[in-house]
Amino acid sequence: MRDRISELLEEVSKLSAENAEQLEALRIKYLSKKGEISSLFNDFKNVAADQKREIGGLLNELKTKATERIAEMKAEFEAKQAQADAPDVTRTPDPIEVGTRHPLSLVKNEIVDIFSRIGFSIAEGPEVEDDWHVFSALNFPPEHPARDMQDTFFITRDPDVLLRTHTSSVQSRVMTSQKPPIRVLCPGRVYRNEAISYRAHCFFHQVEGLYIDKNISFADLKQALLYFAKEMFGEQTQIRLRPSYFPFTEPSAEMDISCNICGGVGCAFCKNTGWVEILGCGMVDPAVLEACGIDSKVYSGYAFGLGVERITNLKYRVKDLRMFSENDVRFLEQFKSAY
Ligand code: DAH
Repeated sequence: MRDRISELLEEVSKLSAENAEQLEALRIKYLSKKGEISSLFNDFKNVAADQKREIGGLLNELKTKATERIAEMKAEFEAKQAQADAPDVTRTPDPIEVGTRHPLSLVKNEIVDIFSRIGFSIAEGPEVEDDWHVFSALNFPPEHPARDMQDTFFITRDPDVLLRTHTSSVQSRVMTSQKPPIRVLCPGRVYRNEAISYRAHCFFHQVEGLYIDKNISFADLKQALLYFAKEMFGEQTQIRLRPSYFPFTEPSAEMDISCNICGGVGCAFCKNTGWVEILGCGMVDPAVLEACGIDSKVYSGYAFGLGVERITNLKYRVKDLRMFSENDVRFLEQFKSAY
């Protein structure tokens, strides 16, 4: 028995295992109820009385050594495993997928950026408006068709509560709440009662511009718009102003830019004219200034309004307006830009 114990002591001190399964097999071999050490303990009763003390001591030593060695190996495995599970902080990270901005936001941001360089700041107004800010203050006569249910969304039975049909309503808000000089850009969503098709939608986006100060002339308007057209569509871009009519401006004009697809030679996009219309503009009608409490004998100003979808079509050639509101990621992911 003594020999067997010292044999096992020797064995136990050299135990090694390559993995957790091997370690478990060793534990069973030495330490389980039917293991080597237990069976020695079972045989202990046969040891002669005068040797019991010595052999018992050796047996206990063996048991302690085996238990310690196996616990030691277990701790080693656990430490190794913890290391393997820990994140590798030195690994090159996966690139982060950032989203893309909506094309209409890109274009709106670019418009805002261009005008902010010549002193325009942002003004905003509510989408749910009253008749006065959308129509009356802006010189729309009472019988004007825009006030009709056919064209405007009224959202309660009260004809005074409606969805703004243009961002010009923000003009009325700014003029009644600020004193000139006023130089603001008003981006926002507008609503009209239109059947939805590839070229019309019941909501779309505009950017309104308004500049009121002493001695503002049509030449100032033209200069600002020429600067905008060149910044937005390139240095070679030309503009032309055609007389037009809006209730809130006098004189009024519509502005075309030289077609940025064919360079002005004529193509299907510009219907062979070489020009495409991008905005409406004019000198703020004195009646509008007066309605908003600004002295039209002292101040004058210009205003313009452009459609964000229109500019986006020109820049990115999106043929179907509906794509802007369908949120198809395959469409949206194609727009990457500095804005
Ligand atoms: N509000 C006009 C529209 O929705 C656009 C417009 C035209 C705005 C002329 C203006 C302007 O400020 O001067 O069609």
